Amino acid sequence: MRIGILTSGGDCPGINATIRGVCKTAIYNYGMEVVGIHGGFKGLIELDFELMDERSLTGLLTMGGTILGTSREKPYSKKHAIPGVDKPALLKANVEKLGLDAVVCIGGNGTQKTAGKMANAGIPVIGIPKTIDNDVAGTDICFGFQTAVSIATEAIDRLHSTASAHRRVMVIEVMGHKAGWIALYSGMAAGGDVILIPEREYSMEKICQAIMNRMHRGKNYAIVVVAEGISTPRPNHAGEYIASTIADMTGIETRETILGYTQRGGSPCPFDRILSTRMGSHAVKLIADKQFGRMVAVRGDSITSVSLSEVAGSTRLLPVDHELILQGQRMGVCFG
Ligand code: F6P
Repeated sequence: MRIGILTSGGDCPGINATIRGVCKTAIYNYGMEVVGIHGGFKGLIELDFELMDERSLTGLLTMGGTILGTSREKPYSKKHAIPGVDKPALLKANVEKLGLDAVVCIGGNGTQKTAGKMANAGIPVIGIPKTIDNDVAGTDICFGFQTAVSIATEAIDRLHSTASAHRRVMVIEVMGHKAGWIALYSGMAAGGDVILIPEREYSMEKICQAIMNRMHRGKNYAIVVVAEGISTPRPNHAGEYIASTIADMTGIETRETILGYTQRGGSPCPFDRILSTRMGSHAVKLIADKQFGRMVAVRGDSITSVSLSEVAGSTRLLPVDHELILQGQRMGVCFG
């Protein structure tokens, strides 16, 4: 068999480890040929590719980013349409031209949606979920998430001492798009006093009260972890809004730190290296078994798969009664 592999959407730690998992399993275990498609779906439309061999796989397990490159090209979206270019038809024709028996699409929600449309168009496709946001439906976890949580946790750990030295409130804005997974996990791991997630409404009065109560208990600083996707009157400036409002309402000196892209750059943590390897390898097994139109998924400790039709278009938000939220509340953490 000859298979294609592409990476699409925002990058995250573990993509290269997944490419390695796919390629090594395909080449060594199944004797397949692997075509690496450059720049996501754009590369499939423009026929920009390379043949993957042992040399292209060196050093991938620990490497951040994606050696194949990525783009936000959405071939089925009207917004991405170019007059006179039939992208869906080109996609199908090029899969045939390259002689691909299957295409592995590594990406987040948008990518899995496109993969679902390819499957509906009769293209044999397998999805592998990736995102630091951990918000792909149909899987318990995505690779990239644990690494992002580790990076955010380390950053918040470091903010405790400077916050304490200056008797300040420190607001840390973390990524996560519309989901609060990174905020909840890094906030709890680093002892946040207030954790704000998009899935829950918050009240500035309650937040300020929690901070003042903490100060009255003799603590001289507070840590507030804010998911970038919470709703604020100033969209895309969650951390800044929360920090300036706390300063105005409490009179306590407050600073904000936006962690931004550091959360998705660099080497994957050991957990994500293993997850990427397992997911990549499982994708090839699905192809060998001719189980197309599916996305590799995690259920508990097992690697399994779900139909792309079940995944496409949904986002896995944090349940508001998530066990970790309830634990945090019992320990006095304010969730807004
Ligand atoms: O989906 C991952 C993510 O890092 C989000 O957390 C963030 O909102 C978004 O991508 C930013 O992506 P970009 O600036 O690359 O479009």
